[in-house]
Amino acid sequence: MASIGEDITRKLIESSGIKNGMKVLDLGCGNGNVTFLLADYIGQDGLIVGIDSNENAINEAKLKSKKLGLSNIFFHLGNLDQDFKLGYSGFDAVIVRRVLMYLPNPKKTIQTTLNYLKPKGLFLAQENDLSLTPIGLKSMPEHIKIISLIKKTLEKENVNLKMGLELNTILTDVGLSVEKVWVETAISTPNQPTPWAYLGKMMKDRMLEQKVINDVSEIGLETLEKRLSEERVINQSTFITDLVFCGIGRKITS
Ligand SMILES: C[S@@+](CC[C@H](N)C(=O)[O-])C[C@H]1O[C@@H](n2cnc3c(N)ncnc32)[C@H](O)[C@@H]1O
Repeated sequence: MASIGEDITRKLIESSGIKNGMKVLDLGCGNGNVTFLLADYIGQDGLIVGIDSNENAINEAKLKSKKLGLSNIFFHLGNLDQDFKLGYSGFDAVIVRRVLMYLPNPKKTIQTTLNYLKPKGLFLAQENDLSLTPIGLKSMPEHIKIISLIKKTLEKENVNLKMGLELNTILTDVGLSVEKVWVETAISTPNQPTPWAYLGKMMKDRMLEQKVINDVSEIGLETLEKRLSEERVINQSTFITDLVFCGIGRKITS
């Protein structure tokens, strides 16, 4: 199954100049969704290093890499909040997807990362912004409810829901030459499914932990997908659920 936002990530990679043979660092790689996507572009001659603080995700990524027989992809456990050390240097590019929003000091993390990037190396970011969405003409209470539970949970976890809108400033402030920042939207229509039921299911334990819900029955997970789908059909609604900011910067110092 394609990961959420994969088409946007492909567009970001393809418009950046990442190519066969390059050495790329995937910051906050999780279980490797972006890493394995990148593998298509850098080929056998390139190299990718993924780093993440979630041990389970790193183990899952290592297992997948082994199953696929990829010998030029490496995953490491590391905390991006600290002055992390990598046994590699001279990367042609760094990519970060949906990670800066989780970091207490994203500028510091990027600055540490720049030490590993070659002069004129690329910095690619894809970060969601949830501060202005959902946007639509019709009342969509079922959609609004699950989206606001997810947003509340993220806010309580100190996730920056405005990261997309702040991306250009952050990339500029760390000294990158920002070549391009643009926004893509994820929309839902009566015929187009949304990720919200899936995300609701994925985040139910975190909702409980953050006391955003007292009981999972409040979300009605068993019928959520169906209720959301029916609501879109009844309303014949087009609905902007998400803004996805993409940015490409270049290291200008040595
Ligand atoms: C929403 S996931 C995105 C994963 C992956 N980049 C993707 O797009 O599929 C956010 C990731 O950031 C990682 N993360 C958050 N804070 C981190 C930190 N301080 N150090 C390392 N990784 C971190 C999480 O463990 C998680 O894997």
